[in-house]
Amino acid sequence: MAAPMSGESGGSEPGAAPYGNFPNYSRFHPPEGRISLLPRGLLRSLFPAAARPLLGLDVGCNSGELSVALYRHLLGLQDSNSSPEPPGASKELNLLCCDIDPELIRRAQQSSPFPSSISFASLDIMDSSTREPFLNSYLQRFGRSSFDIGFCMSVTMWIHLNHGDRGLLDFLALLASLCTFLLVEPQPWKCYRAAARRLRRLGRRDFEHFRSLRINGDMAESVTRILTQECAMELVRSFGSTSWDRSLLLFKSTGAHPEDSR
Ligand SMILES: C[S@@+](CC[C@H](N)C(=O)[O-])C[C@H]1O[C@@H](n2cnc3c(N)ncnc32)[C@H](O)[C@@H]1O
Repeated sequence: MAAPMSGESGGSEPGAAPYGNFPNYSRFHPPEGRISLLPRGLLRSLFPAAARPLLGLDVGCNSGELSVALYRHLLGLQDSNSSPEPPGASKELNLLCCDIDPELIRRAQQSSPFPSSISFASLDIMDSSTREPFLNSYLQRFGRSSFDIGFCMSVTMWIHLNHGDRGLLDFLALLASLCTFLLVEPQPWKCYRAAARRLRRLGRRDFEHFRSLRINGDMAESVTRILTQECAMELVRSFGSTSWDRSLLLFKSTGAHPEDSR
């Protein structure tokens, strides 16, 4: 097994993962470390009277381990690899999971225990020309124009490093416009420094935007400020921090989403 690294971590060639597309990410940051912070029955408490199915969006799903664990947890399914997809599960929750790395998506598709409820797709969420037709066509299948809940787990830093402050602001605004609830796990600033250090150690060029980021420091606070002050969301809950020091923050849209009244 590859040696774990400080900060954001993954496979043996971290410099070869410029988007955080580490092949073994879940070995180092196991889904359980996040899932265990989320109360059982969360979905029911957020959507007490919702018509089914609920729709979820997981952005930057890597090879799907956390997506599947979230799905099981939210539906209260047994945490066993051998349990089959329960009949009717897709009437409860459908999850669209995307990642920029097609190889990670191929692995996620191959190992998915819930193929009729969880869709894995290769997509650069920052590329509006492919994103918009793709997301619209998924939503249209359900007669919807937005997602009930979005997951953005350990992704903000990679968008920020690769697309700069403007990219982070656009990304968060996009998620806020697409999702009624949004669960975010922002990477703290020390992970940015560790990611930049790793590139340097490999003799690669720095992340294009690293040195010019004006949004820096307390990233959980910055993400909260952006979502609440610029993206019409409110912070409804903080579920505490993982053992690797990342907060899990749940936001809710304060703007009208077309399906809010369902
Ligand atoms: C550190 S991993 C987090 C994986 C998973 N969400 C988790 O927390 O276990 C970050 C993921 O975001 C993906 N990613 C980065 N930029 C992306 C983009 N523009 N569009 C889609 N996925 C992206 C990477 O490929 C990588 O798999």
